[in-house]
Order: sequence, then C-alpha cells, then structure tokens
Amino acid sequence: MNPNEHGKRVSSLFDNIATWYDFLNHFLSLGQDIYWRYRLVRTLRTGSTGAVLDLAAGTLDVSREILRRHPAQKVLSLDFSRAMLCSGKKKVVNQPSIFPVQADGRALPLPDACVDTVTIAFGIRNILPRTEAYGEILRVLAPGGRLCILEFGTGQARIWQGAYNFYLGKVLPRIGRFFSKNPEAYQYLADTILAFPHASDLAKELRDAGFDKIGYQALSSGIVYIHVAQKPS
Ligand SMILES: C[S@@+](CC[C@H](N)C(=O)[O-])C[C@H]1O[C@@H](n2cnc3c(N)ncnc32)[C@H](O)[C@@H]1O
Repeated sequence: MNPNEHGKRVSSLFDNIATWYDFLNHFLSLGQDIYWRYRLVRTLRTGSTGAVLDLAAGTLDVSREILRRHPAQKVLSLDFSRAMLCSGKKKVVNQPSIFPVQADGRALPLPDACVDTVTIAFGIRNILPRTEAYGEILRVLAPGGRLCILEFGTGQARIWQGAYNFYLGKVLPRIGRFFSKNPEAYQYLADTILAFPHASDLAKELRDAGFDKIGYQALSSGIVYIHVAQKPS
C-alpha cells in the first residue's frame, strides 16, 4: 500500500472509532494509558518559543496533560482525523491555549523552529514513511528542542511469560470489535504493534534521521516505551 493510501485508511479508521476511543483506551490498558501519558509529558522541555506541538493528538489527552503541567504554554494539537479532534474538543472548551488543527504529520502547516518540544503518543506507529514525519519534526523544532515519543514496544518481545502477547493477539481485537463494531480497527492495532521495531532499532532510526542525545525507557515491562531525541543545537 502506498503512503497516501495508508494515510487515508488510517484517518478513516480513527474517524470510525473516535466515539469509543477514550473508553476503550482506558479499558483495554486497565487505566495504565493515563500514567503513560503523564510520564511522557514529564520528559517535555519548554523554551523561548512558548509553544509545544502535540502531533497525532487524537482526542487531546496529551495536550491537556501538557497544559496541566505547563499552563503558560501554547499547545498546537495536530491530527489527521477530524472526528478524533472533534471528540477531543469537547474536553477543552475552557482551554483557549490548546489549538486543534487537522493536518498530516508528514506536511506540517507550521513555520520552521516554532516549538521547543514535539510530543507524539501512539502516533508514530501509524505514520508511513516515518522518515517524512521525522524531517518535518526536525524542521519545526527550535535548535536543541526535543522530540518525546510514547509508543508500544515491539509486540514480538515476550512479556509476562507470553500473557501480554496472548492478550494482544487474541483478546484485544475481540474486545475492540465487540465495543466499537469495527472489525478492522483493533486488529490493525495488534498488527501494527507486532510490526513495530524494537526500541534500539527506533533509536537508530532517529539517529539516522538527524536527531542526537537519543534515549529510551521501558514502562510496564516494555509494553510501552518513551523515547526522547534532540534536534542538534
Ligand atoms: C492511537 S491514536 C493516538 C492519539 C493520542 N495521541 C493519544 O495519546 O491517545 C493515533 C492518532 O494518530 C493519528 N494519525 C495517524 N496518521 C497520522 C498522520 N499522518 N498525521 C497526523 N496524525 C496521524 C490518527 O488520526 C490518530 O488520532
């Protein structure tokens, strides 16, 4: 599938599950997703631009956490899926510092060097090719700015003696299908986690793209990882 077809498929998939997205996130992760996003936002650094880009912002939970922790920042919340952003907007009616905009992470409608941090939670896995997103992120980051990624680890690693892998491959798609009535969406989730590179390979990918000071940390036994990378100053 070419990248544009993939992009259309992904955005319509998220449009279709937007209503159920928050509930299923909390339910399927047993509430751990709230803690994972909290940990992601702790890695953020503010700076002279006064702005943070939350890419693949979805229903705006990371954007809200950024503002809770850094009330003086402007948060640019960009996502491909209009329905995900609309669902999120209902949660930010009294938060004028969050700016939701429909946009493709591979062609950001932003000037160069306009933000100090880019966050992306459970989004980079969905963008193909990732190198195009890295190029755009480097362009919009101020020199020395940070990219902070929250993403699943590769589903190929055996976790909790295989219990997590069984849950991912067999249980999660069935529960997702039952609630969201979308047979494709939660199978897609499991498939993309399985296909996602190991954290050390992602670190290499970020280095090859032009980032430095790259590090990563596993959370919840490696179910998810936080990656931090810096634009050279
Ligand atoms: C799993 S959701 C994550 C949403 C949110 N960050 C969170 O933590 O819940 C992935 C999001 O990535 C968005 N997305 C996928 N491809 C994208 C692209 N090329 N540009 C922008 N957003 C994209 C989808 O529309 C979807 O809202």
